[in-house]
Amino acid sequence: MKTRLVKLCSLLLALMLLLALAACGSSSPEPAPQPQSEEAAQNTDNTPEPADTEPDTTTPEPAAAGREVLVVYFSATGTTRGVAEKIAALEGADLYEIKASQEYTDADLNWNDSGSRTTKEQGDKSVRPEIGSEPISLQGYTTIYIGFPIWWGEEPRIMDTFVESYDFGGATVIPFCTSGSGGIGSSGRNLADNAGSGNWLEGRRFSGGVSEAVLRAWIDGLK
Ligand SMILES: Cc1cc2nc3c(=O)[nH]c(=O)nc-3n(C[C@H](O)[C@H](O)[C@H](O)COP(=O)(O)O)c2cc1C
Repeated sequence: MKTRLVKLCSLLLALMLLLALAACGSSSPEPAPQPQSEEAAQNTDNTPEPADTEPDTTTPEPAAAGREVLVVYFSATGTTRGVAEKIAALEGADLYEIKASQEYTDADLNWNDSGSRTTKEQGDKSVRPEIGSEPISLQGYTTIYIGFPIWWGEEPRIMDTFVESYDFGGATVIPFCTSGSGGIGSSGRNLADNAGSGNWLEGRRFSGGVSEAVLRAWIDGLK
C-alpha cells in the first residue's frame, strides 16, 4: 500500500513538472522590436520595392538598328532651338548648336536697317560668317536634321559656312526652318548645292509653336 502511494505521488509530481515546463515555453518573451528608419518602417515585409512598371512616356522611340540621328541647328533668338529640341527628343537624337564666333546682337538682327550685319550678310551670297562652336564629327550619323531661321527669304549665311565645312557622306540630310511666315523656299536646295555631299530631302518650315504631334507625323512621313 505504501509503495503504491509513493508511485502515485511520483507520477503526480512528474505530471506537474511537465505542465510547468509546457507553461514556461509558451510564455517566453517576443524579441524586442528593433529601431528602423522611416523608409524601412514603411516597407514592413523587408522585400524590395517593386520596380516602377508605369511606361515612361518621355522616353524617345529607340532608333532603328544602325540608325544614328543628329539634329544640327542655328538659332539667333531661340525659336529654331525649341523646334530642334523637340525633333531631337522625338528621334532620340544628338543635338548640336551652330554658334557664331561673333554672336548676333539685336542691332545685327534689325532687318529694318539696311546697314545691319544681317542685311549686309544676306545681301551677299559669298559671305561665310565664322562658326564659334566646337567642331563635331559627323562620323556614324546616318540621318542629320539641319535647322535654321529664314533671313530675307533664305538660310543665314552661317549655314553655308557649316555645310561647306563638313562631309555628309551618304547620310540623309533633312533641312527644316522657322520663320515669321515665309516658306523654306530655295534654302534647302542652296544648302545641298553648297554641301556637295549627303542625300538631301525636301525641307519644311515650322512655326515656333509647332506641336509634337505635327513633328511626329512629319518624321514618320520621311521614313
Ligand atoms: C534678319 C532677319 C530676317 C528675317 N527675314 C524673314 C523673312 O524673310 N521671312 C520670314 O518669314 N521671317 C523672317 N524673319 C523672322 C525669322 O525667320 C523668325 O523670327 C525665326 O523664327 C527666328 O528664328 P530663331 O529665333 O531661331 O533665330 C527674319 C528675322 C531676322 C532677324
